[in-house]
Amino acid sequence: MADSGIENLLQEDRLFPPPREFSEQAVGTADLYEEADADYIAYWTRQAKERITWYKEPTEGLDDSNPPFFKWFSDGELNISYNCLDRHLETGGDKVAYHWVGEPGDTRTITYTELSDEVNRFANGLRSLGVVKGDRVAIYMGMVPELPVAMLACARIGAPHSVIFGGFSADSIIDRVNDQGAKVLITCDGAWRRGSVVPLKDNCDRAMEETPTIEHCLVVKRIENDVSMVDGRDIWWHDLVEHQPTECEPEVMNAEDLLYILYTSGTTAKPKGIMHTTGGYLTGAVTTHALVFDIKPDSDVYWCAADIGWVTGHTYIVYGPLANHTTSIMYEGTPDYPDKDRLWSIIEEYGVTIFYTAPTAIRAFMKWGEQYPQRHDLSSLRLLGTVGEPINPSAWMWYHDHIGPQDCPIVDTWWQTETGAIMISPLPGVTATKPGSATKPLPGISASVVDVEGHPVPLGGGGYLTITQPWPAMLRSIYGDDERYVSTYWSRYPGVYFAGDGAKIDEDGYLWILGRVDDVMNVSGHRISTMEVESALVSHPSVAEAAVVGAADELTGQAIAAFVTLVGSFEETDGLLEELRSHVASKIGAIAKPKTIIFTPDLPKTRSGKIMRRLLRDISDNRVLGDVTTLANSEIVQAIADQAEAYRDDD
Ligand code: WT7
Repeated sequence: MADSGIENLLQEDRLFPPPREFSEQAVGTADLYEEADADYIAYWTRQAKERITWYKEPTEGLDDSNPPFFKWFSDGELNISYNCLDRHLETGGDKVAYHWVGEPGDTRTITYTELSDEVNRFANGLRSLGVVKGDRVAIYMGMVPELPVAMLACARIGAPHSVIFGGFSADSIIDRVNDQGAKVLITCDGAWRRGSVVPLKDNCDRAMEETPTIEHCLVVKRIENDVSMVDGRDIWWHDLVEHQPTECEPEVMNAEDLLYILYTSGTTAKPKGIMHTTGGYLTGAVTTHALVFDIKPDSDVYWCAADIGWVTGHTYIVYGPLANHTTSIMYEGTPDYPDKDRLWSIIEEYGVTIFYTAPTAIRAFMKWGEQYPQRHDLSSLRLLGTVGEPINPSAWMWYHDHIGPQDCPIVDTWWQTETGAIMISPLPGVTATKPGSATKPLPGISASVVDVEGHPVPLGGGGYLTITQPWPAMLRSIYGDDERYVSTYWSRYPGVYFAGDGAKIDEDGYLWILGRVDDVMNVSGHRISTMEVESALVSHPSVAEAAVVGAADELTGQAIAAFVTLVGSFEETDGLLEELRSHVASKIGAIAKPKTIIFTPDLPKTRSGKIMRRLLRDISDNRVLGDVTTLANSEIVQAIADQAEAYRDDD
């Protein structure tokens, strides 16, 4: 595969068959593959009917009359909050939905009945403000219990929610709120992060100067820091729900009604509002959660250690686990606060049985050292998972050896914001795993690795990952931009979904995901577009031109490396360099802060003026420089490489 900028895979021969005791009790069994292969629409329809409580059961499976605008179960009617709450109450209302752990050490235990009461009261509160079915609600919060409450309340009254990651800046809120025309913004006074306060409400205040559609801002008191409240517009959460009854009639939703919008980076500066609907999404969430995580609702304590601001949290902290009547952990803070054993101490205290995290976190744990997990009894764990980026075999082995008790299976799960639910993953009781491989598509999912022309590559070959059949939890479109939906995902190879990832398929048919093939970086498991960071840099008065690439990074997978040409009157100082890094953080969020910035009088360009990012990647990764003969200004490349060298020596 040309120009993928991705490390070559070493040959990996280790094979870990599922332990017999695990297979004997597993939820996901081998016959599911046969069933789905015989008729994938019938397979998914069976899952939808058995795992979901419908007001009106669907008679339709897949509607493919207008591709790629596929529909699933389109005459079915349901409410997701009913499925996550009400239907569990009669027999299991006392069960814990969330053991919530605050960063400073405070805790809350929330049963299904309590969660339901809070959701109903808040849903009534939203209705009292005139929020009705179809109105968009933006949510910008920390990891507090009110966040899932807000999402479920929106789902209850049919108002699509859009969660904006709490680490994003005011500008990011503005873009996302205005793209969808949200009516209400829900936030907290602040959020805890490593002992200091992230001023969420202040960020909202700044954003609301430029978001004309927002009528109300609802504020959870978490920190009790000073915030300003605008009369009539801003309302404390506790005041809104105070006199609301704990019963709120759920809206009857069509399976194809919009459940949420979640923004993700694309190759242009504008984030894409990925749209997920109700029936198909819930089918994907509840089925994959049960099968991949082998959920036993009566005995498991399950922990997905993601942030709800990303799709992982939507599907595997909120909708999948609650619909499956699972007991989950929800943790507010970072893994190293107050010390680097925080996660392991939570696992020990609550007897966590299933743990799901990202490779970037595992690499950090490796760096900190095995003495931290060793301080704790982790023997309750019986299944581990990873998601977000390729996991290097050495990190996989460390996870296996130091976190999992003996023979604990690991599920490496490949999916995307767009796919809504896990697509490629082992079934832990069926699939023999190989460190670094997401193994094979789940039952009902069909993937193919193809070459540039779209032909499947032979076993042992590499190419582009495609999904060849529609699936229930798939995105339905990009909010307000059907054309971009078609061109981004369905035009590269007509009729199949183009995931934007490179992949290899080995002799056993196992898939090895190599990473993004477009101009999107993967930093700590999160997609950030090179274009967005470039736009943020160029918006600073000193910057004439900027190019950004993802450089291989031991800890974060990729790190953001920026190359910047200044406007003539500005001087290349360390002060300005720091200012530019903070500028990007304030425009997008701290996650997008470039790790390195190199000043250069010019950028390597083709004769048509296209920046050659391939060469900048070579420089960042300290590789031998690729072909420079097509450049208009080849001499600049060596100059930049020398600068990068000097920068590395400084470190
Ligand atoms: C991109 C999607 C879906 C949850 C988190 C990220 C990469 C995801 C894996 C994996 C290798 C992975 C891909 C994908 N990715 N999981 N198990 N192995 N790569 O969601 O922000 O939509 O990013 O993450 O490159 O395209 P996202």
